[in-house]
Amino acid sequence: MDKIATIKKDFPIFARHPNLTYLDSAATSLKPLSVVNKIQEYYQEYSANIHRGIYQISEKATQEYEETRQVVTSFINAESEKEIVYTRSATEGLNLVATSLGSSIVGAGDEIVITIMEHHSNFVPWQQLAKKAQAKLKIIGVTPEGYLDLELDNIKYTNHISKIVNNKTKILAITYVSNVLGTINPIKEIIAQAKKINPKIIVVVDGAQAVPHMPVDVQDLGADFLVFSGHKMLGPTGIGILWGKQELFEKMPPYQYGGDMIKEVAIENTIYQDAPWKFEAGTPHIAGVIGLKEAIRYLQKIGMHKIHKREQKLLADALKRLQEEFGDNITVLGPQKSQDRAGVMAFRLADFHPHDIAQILDESHIAIRAGHHCAMPLHTYLKFSASARASFYIYNNDADIEKLITGLKKAEKTLTK
Ligand SMILES: Cc1ncc(COP(=O)(O)O)c(C=O)c1O
Repeated sequence: MDKIATIKKDFPIFARHPNLTYLDSAATSLKPLSVVNKIQEYYQEYSANIHRGIYQISEKATQEYEETRQVVTSFINAESEKEIVYTRSATEGLNLVATSLGSSIVGAGDEIVITIMEHHSNFVPWQQLAKKAQAKLKIIGVTPEGYLDLELDNIKYTNHISKIVNNKTKILAITYVSNVLGTINPIKEIIAQAKKINPKIIVVVDGAQAVPHMPVDVQDLGADFLVFSGHKMLGPTGIGILWGKQELFEKMPPYQYGGDMIKEVAIENTIYQDAPWKFEAGTPHIAGVIGLKEAIRYLQKIGMHKIHKREQKLLADALKRLQEEFGDNITVLGPQKSQDRAGVMAFRLADFHPHDIAQILDESHIAIRAGHHCAMPLHTYLKFSASARASFYIYNNDADIEKLITGLKKAEKTLTK
């Protein structure tokens, strides 16, 4: 049988909560048993520290830990394992680049470009860097249809990229997929054209909502850095990946200091490890790194193309069914063409408060998100204080869409005075 049809069985949470309709994977994904078992394996069988121990269980832990770097390297088609830094999360990866590289290359009068659809983790670090460095923060807007308001040679909107990127632009930090609008941005084209205008520009891609859901090839994208989080792709919380070009990592100062990131320490001076280890100070989240490897293997067994296609089909079905059932009473944010978006669907139902909707859905064990989804600038721009958000992953199916619709009907009835 098709693996996808039997997937729910791999997720122990559905045995505990058989009525659960989980539609909040954009916040965090559920975990398959193989990942839970792998984490347990580390704690039960070789829970020693890495790199330092000259004994068997430490060597085993080190080997399992470093093997994840190879798995991540091939998963995103990086050139070398030295381009893979373990972080705590996508957020930490972005802060690492903004602090380590950003503060050494951005100065007064320089420019940093971001977009209005960024998650706070790809907004605030650049806003704060711009303030500190007295640089200008430029923000690309979105069109009413939910696309970046950015004219490229092949995409027609109001602001041509050459009006935004210039030779003062030091950094372009941009999300691959919006966690609210679901828009898949034409990242490859944007990077190619930005680099044509200014070959020295550093492009940082937030892959938090892309890497778990579609094939991502960093060499093909042409970016300089890419971040993502393990917990949104079936892995544990507290582990993220920062991919970066080796020549940039070599020039960047460490982000934190301490054990494991040094070659030699003397009273007067310290010699650091090479990248990626120079960015991994202290005892890391060993179980998290090892668990992430298992999560990636699970995704690879299904295939990222298949996952992407299936989520787009689910999204298309959901958009159609919501339109049929609620008509003009529902506004789904972002592009209406399902091929332009990922399986994240933020919406407003009449003028009901998204928190009230989420609470009523919860009575039927349907988990969605309500609020600003860590994208307050985008919500302010769209003139909404909040939205409700349903998001899909590999364990969702058409039955979940029907449950969502039944739940929303109930919410509509309850909240209509
Ligand atoms: C687009 C995007 N970027 C970054 C993040 C931050 O991820 P984390 O909280 O795992 O660091 C999120 C989380 O929701 C996100 O959706």
